[in-house]
Amino acid sequence: MINKERLLHRLLELGKIGRNQSGGITRHAFTQEDRSAKDLVAVYMQEAGLQVREDAVGNLIGRREGCDPNAAVVLTGSHIDSVCDGGIYDGALGLLGAIEVLQTLNEQHIETKHPIEVYAFNDEEGSRFSFSMFGSRGVIGNLSHKDLEMKDRNGISVAEAMKAQGYDPNKIGEANRSQESIKAFIELHIEQGKVLESKNLSIGIVSGIVNELWLKCSVYGEAGHAGATPMTLRHDALVAAAEMVQVVEREAKSTGTTVATVGRLNVQPGGINIIPGTVEFTLDLRDTSQEVSDKVERQIFKEFDRICKDRGVSLKTDILQRIPPAPCAKEFQIAAQKACVASELPYFSLPSGAGHDAMQMVNICPIGMIFVRSKDGISHNPAEWSSPDDCADGVKVLYYTLLELAVKVS
Ligand code: GLV
Ligand code: MN
Ligand code: MN
Repeated sequence: MINKERLLHRLLELGKIGRNQSGGITRHAFTQEDRSAKDLVAVYMQEAGLQVREDAVGNLIGRREGCDPNAAVVLTGSHIDSVCDGGIYDGALGLLGAIEVLQTLNEQHIETKHPIEVYAFNDEEGSRFSFSMFGSRGVIGNLSHKDLEMKDRNGISVAEAMKAQGYDPNKIGEANRSQESIKAFIELHIEQGKVLESKNLSIGIVSGIVNELWLKCSVYGEAGHAGATPMTLRHDALVAAAEMVQVVEREAKSTGTTVATVGRLNVQPGGINIIPGTVEFTLDLRDTSQEVSDKVERQIFKEFDRICKDRGVSLKTDILQRIPPAPCAKEFQIAAQKACVASELPYFSLPSGAGHDAMQMVNICPIGMIFVRSKDGISHNPAEWSSPDDCADGVKVLYYTLLELAVKVS
């Protein structure tokens, strides 16, 4: 059936682009690494017999025609970018797995009613511009010119980065797809958690994806002399921020379902003998229930207000993104269950704690996701690993699911 060796070879080959000394990869949007990765994946798409094109927001797309020229297209694939020093499976498995399925269908001369397209989504992680799912936002028309003003750590805006790589920021609208033209989006991905491992299963069928709230908090205190300012007369922005980080952990823990993370912290002026005057930190907050997430957010900010008053500092909050939870369509969960039966693979149904492009796609079509077991649940880390057998199992399930959704003809 599918060619496991080819899949593995491509995973490892793509995993060399953006490779760091740690063994992990850093492949951010609109960089040379991103370009090299797309060029390589375009070759794989051609080898698979797909028609290859790139859209106005930098998504690479491979298309396989169906027998009915008027039938809506079934979309699949995953993202091509990575976080800082991430693993080689996050995104790559769903992308290369989808190409593998279409290459196999071509080799088997199987025809489907609906065309199928594989998307290599641009910038799902949002690691460079603190704004995720850029490519899929472009597909559904959820990108504004204001979004292109988001800047990376070197002060380069999305628009500037696009131009440097030969894209025209004025044309982002051309990446839009109409709702009527798309039947479904289905994504294969590593689980990035420990549930499947704990169940001793290689395959998960995703019931839905948690919400995602990203904020930038700036705490303003007063910089001062570290030797000459008594402890009682300080407005130390870092000590206030440290207390806020504790609040984030405590409030998230209190629900039993919420997860919240402060992943980035910037202390200014950053001198050994200067009391910190300004601290910026990011907050990532998620829950399967929007209601619970909102409640935790309110509680956190109530506590932040108290800390500001107690310590004589002020706080400014910028919303980077607020993405609601995305349910997976029941019909796809059923299609994926049937695919597991056809592949003779037991499965477990679970929600996704990680964000995915499907959270954008859900706005224009029904979505489905298939998970593959992650070793020790590790992800966003160079040690991320899923066994070749598990990866192949996931691709098999994707194969049968796609045949069902795109309707096998012969
Ligand atoms: C992406 O992997 C995310 O969940 O942030
Ligand atoms: Mn990721
Ligand atoms: Mn991912």
